[in-house]
Amino acid sequence: MRLDGKVVLITGASEGIGAACAAEFARSGARLSLTARNPRGLAAAGGSGALLTPGDITSEETRSSVVARTLDRFGAIDILVNNAGMGLYMPSWQTPLEDARRLWELNFFSVLHLTQLVAPVMRERHSGMIVNVGSIAGKMTLPWFTLYSASKSALGTLTEGLRMELRNTGVKTMLVCPGYVQTGFQSHVIGGRPPDRVLQGKRFAITAAECARAIRRGVERESRTVVTPASGWLLVALMRLFPGPVEHRLAQILGTA
Ligand SMILES: NC(=O)c1ccc[n+]([C@@H]2O[C@H](COP(=O)([O-])OP(=O)(O)OC[C@H]3O[C@@H](n4cnc5c(N)ncnc54)[C@H](OP(=O)(O)O)[C@@H]3O)[C@@H](O)[C@H]2O)c1
Repeated sequence: MRLDGKVVLITGASEGIGAACAAEFARSGARLSLTARNPRGLAAAGGSGALLTPGDITSEETRSSVVARTLDRFGAIDILVNNAGMGLYMPSWQTPLEDARRLWELNFFSVLHLTQLVAPVMRERHSGMIVNVGSIAGKMTLPWFTLYSASKSALGTLTEGLRMELRNTGVKTMLVCPGYVQTGFQSHVIGGRPPDRVLQGKRFAITAAECARAIRRGVERESRTVVTPASGWLLVALMRLFPGPVEHRLAQILGTA
């Protein structure tokens, strides 16, 4: 898919991967509709010409408003990037249900509802792409954030199912599975903190700009799945081939083995 002139709606665009995607898509000539809670971050990410809709994406009102405003301003939504998301670093068996529900409300249900609002518009025009920012943690369960892994795994299933449901409608879906990306993600958590050994892994992290470049390339190629860095595929393969030893190693990192 060519990006020049396309209308791209990005959630969680006030910083991190979302803001980097805004810059990356703008460089390719796309027209931007950006949403997140922090208006100053949005303004910095948007530059001139971007439509900004500040608000909490877990609110039904914000979701309806951002879609209506985008259609009003641009008349179409070509690409929806469901990027807003948060982490929760707590053992699943100890996590307050209220926190688990908050996580799913943001990482899964807001994505589902935005998709329900945007997919019919794309179907009508026989064209569009829904990009869901999952995580490598959705492809292999990471025990320092089991519930986050579960939410991102569900997002992967949603992305695959949608692709089949929307087959022959001109609407594509793409799942993005970043590994470790240098953003404020680890400090913007719903609860808990990563184990020290995970924090030490920062040296393997890619930048948000590198992640956004991989996402832009994936959209242009209409990829099904983007794993970035690509070495993440190796981890996924190891988990599938040798689940016992890999689980043991992950439990060691967590400090429970
Ligand atoms: N960083 C990583 O290592 C990593 C790895 C794999 C996957 N991911 C995924 O990548 C996505 C982006 O993460 P990031 O690393 O860029 O994190 P980040 O720097 O913390 O950015 C998160 C973005 O989501 C927005 N957001 C959070 N809660 C929101 C809410 N209730 N309503 C509206 N917007 C909300 C934030 O904006 P406001 O605070 O202004 O609302 C911010 O723009 C997430 O889905 C994350 O799960 C990240």
